[in-house]
Amino acid sequence: MKYLVILLLVKFVVGGYLPPPDYGNSSPNCACDEEVMSLADRISKLEIDLDHQRTRSNILEKSIQQQSRNRRQVDTAVPPAFTAYLSHYYNAMSIGDTIVFDKTLTNVGGYYNLTTGRFTAPLSGLYIFSFIIETKHAVDTAVRLVVDGNNALDAVVEPRHNEQNLQGGNVGILTLSEGQQVWIQIYNTGGQTLEGGNIYRFTTFTGALLSEMDVTGPTMIG
Ligand SMILES: *[C@@H]1O[C@H](CO)[C@@H](O)[C@H](O)[C@H]1NC(C)=O
Repeated sequence: MKYLVILLLVKFVVGGYLPPPDYGNSSPNCACDEEVMSLADRISKLEIDLDHQRTRSNILEKSIQQQSRNRRQVDTAVPPAFTAYLSHYYNAMSIGDTIVFDKTLTNVGGYYNLTTGRFTAPLSGLYIFSFIIETKHAVDTAVRLVVDGNNALDAVVEPRHNEQNLQGGNVGILTLSEGQQVWIQIYNTGGQTLEGGNIYRFTTFTGALLSEMDVTGPTMIG
């Protein structure tokens, strides 16, 4: 009997201290749920961001690898250099036309393109260029050397009568960034005629890398 009383007392005391069952946490309006949902939302946004960053960094890595491969391929022991000439009589040109010097005497590294008439700088650095045109027709002929389409040097020939052979040209040293292009362009009204031939190489375009150089910021031209 004495033990039963103690047992009942113990049960009562312990039972009285049991925490009441709590059903509140499963309510969908609880602040914790909202927090969890917004965290999940943020995590999924971060995952998307991370994916984009991964893609970007892969692209950057590839382009860096490509650049260092290109750099290694440029043999500066024999600097890129070319001399091209016009191998034929060339007329009916109009403003903006590129003079395509269609034959080369020298084209170290092949950075002068015979199809487009453009030289592409394989490295950033200091380059020398010259161009000479010849005409014997009484039509004013003005040409210019452009870097990515921007005027750098000009030359003009103005024979006063036909069969008056004249040459005009220019020479310059330019700073170029890797990948910039240089070509010769007609820039006065149409109808010019340039003389060229395989034997008489009057009309020429020449360029060479003088020194590799880290070109940062604006170049000296354009
Ligand atoms: C010259 O340029 C043309 C047109 O961009 C290109 O198709 C060709 O491959 C180039 N030639 C060389 C030798 O790089």
